Amino acid sequence: MIREIVIWPDPILKQVAKSVDGVDDTIQRLLDDMSETMYAADGVGLAAPQIAEGHRCIVIDTSPRQEGQKLIHLVNPEIVKTEGVTTYTEGCLSVPGEAEEVERAAKVWVRALDYFGKAYELECEGLLSIAVQHECDHLDGTLFVDHLSSLKREIIRRRMKRLKEERASDRAESIRTAAQHKSAL
Ligand code: NI
Repeated sequence: MIREIVIWPDPILKQVAKSVDGVDDTIQRLLDDMSETMYAADGVGLAAPQIAEGHRCIVIDTSPRQEGQKLIHLVNPEIVKTEGVTTYTEGCLSVPGEAEEVERAAKVWVRALDYFGKAYELECEGLLSIAVQHECDHLDGTLFVDHLSSLKREIIRRRMKRLKEERASDRAESIRTAAQHKSAL
């Protein structure tokens, strides 16, 4: 099921997500909803807090931009080693339309449970490395905007406020239109 993505700023996005005690049906359903939501929004990664779920779950698929990759599920991910430094222009499904350069480790090694609850370790480079760091940040209540200067963050905050207001009035408008159609019947 495609879920609604929480837009920053929102207290939900600041919460620290809780560790998953074993991957059961409920967690698998959550992972399915997350990947469906990510693909529908044309994203390459999504963390559970972005759909208002406080579990340490991530989905990533960088294949549109990185050859040889596929959909991966990371439950209770832990970055165990990093190497080098790089900068990348990042965006976020919770901060639509914005992109800024963020400094990250060039390479990371992450340990996690997969879709079936099996532990694995993954060596990540390029966009996959950026995505793992970006999504792990989400689980700790940190967004890419928190890596920017306070000035840049404030400008983005204002734009997001306007976006939310526009969306709220669009919703009100569609409710009004629906009501009119109903009374016309
Ligand atoms: Ni994000």
